Amino acid sequence: MSEHILIAIAWPYANAEIHVGNITGSHLPGDIVARYHRLKGNRVLVVSGSDSHGTPVTMSADKLKKPVEEVYKQYHATFLEVFQGYGITYDLFTSTHTENHFKVSQSIFLALKENGYLFTRVEPQWYSPGLGKFLPDRYIEGTCYICGFEGARSDQCDKCGNVLEPAKLINPRSKWAGDTSTPELRETEHFYIDLSKLEPRVVEFLKARAGHMRETVLGESLGKINAEGLKPRPITRDLDWGIPVPVEGWAGKCLYVWFEAVIGYLSAAIEWARISGQPEAWKQWWANPQARQFYFIGKDNIFFHTSLWPAELMGVGEKFAEIFNGEQGILLTLPYDVPANQFMNLEGQKISGSRNWAVWGRDALTRYDADALRYYLTVNMPEAKDSDWDWGEFIARNNSELVATWGNLANRVLSFSYKHWEGCVPPVDLATLRDSDRELLATIENGFQSVGALYDAVKLRDALKECLRLATEVNRYLDANAPWTAIKTDRESAARTIYTALRAIDSLKLLFAPILPFSSEKLHGFFGYQTPLFGAQYTEEVQDSLGAHTVLRYRPAEAETGVQWQPSQLQPGARLNPPAPLFKKLDEKLAEEERARLGR
Ligand code: MF3
Ligand code: ZN
Repeated sequence: MSEHILIAIAWPYANAEIHVGNITGSHLPGDIVARYHRLKGNRVLVVSGSDSHGTPVTMSADKLKKPVEEVYKQYHATFLEVFQGYGITYDLFTSTHTENHFKVSQSIFLALKENGYLFTRVEPQWYSPGLGKFLPDRYIEGTCYICGFEGARSDQCDKCGNVLEPAKLINPRSKWAGDTSTPELRETEHFYIDLSKLEPRVVEFLKARAGHMRETVLGESLGKINAEGLKPRPITRDLDWGIPVPVEGWAGKCLYVWFEAVIGYLSAAIEWARISGQPEAWKQWWANPQARQFYFIGKDNIFFHTSLWPAELMGVGEKFAEIFNGEQGILLTLPYDVPANQFMNLEGQKISGSRNWAVWGRDALTRYDADALRYYLTVNMPEAKDSDWDWGEFIARNNSELVATWGNLANRVLSFSYKHWEGCVPPVDLATLRDSDRELLATIENGFQSVGALYDAVKLRDALKECLRLATEVNRYLDANAPWTAIKTDRESAARTIYTALRAIDSLKLLFAPILPFSSEKLHGFFGYQTPLFGAQYTEEVQDSLGAHTVLRYRPAEAETGVQWQPSQLQPGARLNPPAPLFKKLDEKLAEEERARLGR
């Protein structure tokens, strides 16, 4: 029975380019799991978009002296390019600045309000006498009242990692370009979500996921609630760029960026359904208690996905659909798993876009193949602890693992078969296969269980390790049977060996495919299959009352072509296509060149 799988990937702020840390942190693992489930025949929906509101974006625009609209669109365009380049197959990558997202977010807000989870409160907030307006929390810097760090933002301290109460900041300074006035506290009214009312349900929700949620994620989420409880949080701001608060008399105030960005996972599914011409289809992932939702995020986003977002969903109950489109009896599905990753550093130091200490996604693609990058980003994925991008290691692993263990294996066996059996798979009689042939095939067939279970559990490093172990088994088998010499003395035996190895490689192709989709697709073609393994990505322009936005989309092919997560049934005598190497060996000197590029 096919399952419904929602792959929800953190919405990147549209104020910087995507770097390898972002890719390995969320986009790539999300894509790998999506591709696995598509091959399994499950109904997969992958959504995300540009987080185009919030002060990170307005601050960048401020620095660049450009309109916010222009800035977020410029970075959005680079996102579409990088995701296509790396094959991150979003069914929809959109933006938070769309009419649909505004409407969905405002409906969630109103549903929470009607259900009694919102209240208003007048609070002191930092105000710039020089600019004559309230300043967003991030525009205020000062000394952290918890750890004493002098460069803390008023809402969050990057030193001790605590979320801060802005009014308690010591020695406030304005970060607004050209504003030399000293910020002062003034009263302003805001809406709060009363998370304390939802705390017992959030705790119950988290405990129910103890069987499959990563210990790091569950531990941090429950630990935070145990330590400080879920407190009311303000969900509106004095801002002009964002989603207006849908309440009369609240002009000039917007929804808090985190409150609305997480709603994007729902609104993007609704947008996807509408532009796909099946406006009801979003419910298969969103009004379906059987659907499994996976949220791929970095560790700094955990609270928002394991506590705030589930609380919003629980708080709206059936009210969301009643307000949004007048439907009764629709209860929104809760997250199944939040496989948050730790961070990837670069050459031993924290990646920093502003200091240009980063491997930028688009730039790396101009020199390396997407699968070589995907390979290294998967063996090195920061699943349990921070990892490190090391150029020397990138090259060494590319050459000794990707090329030597897997690429050469496929190329060697295909070329040999192509040469000695006139472009075909050896035409062996399957009944004559030897025990050792059958044993190898059984070992590889087991991979569909073992590797599949690892993909399903989002243990992607282990999945890749298991694929490599299986490839090594095939290499061993070939060493033992030496078809390269047997061909001269016992052509029958060489034929059985090559048939068996080809069939194993044809299976391995699928096991590797979620991680290495481009080379697996090529390999699939070398085997002579007519239909592709995966579908195609494309962009499309969508019009709405806020203007036009370009989205990235995916046209599935899997369902029609019938490729499935199952062992190869390679036919003896089948026609092959001319093979070619799958990967490139990289010169060790490149590591020094790349380090020089970083300014070392
Ligand atoms: N924009 C945030 C970041 O880059 C992530 C937002 S994820 C969402 O850290 F759920 F809020 F969309
Ligand atoms: Zn601090």
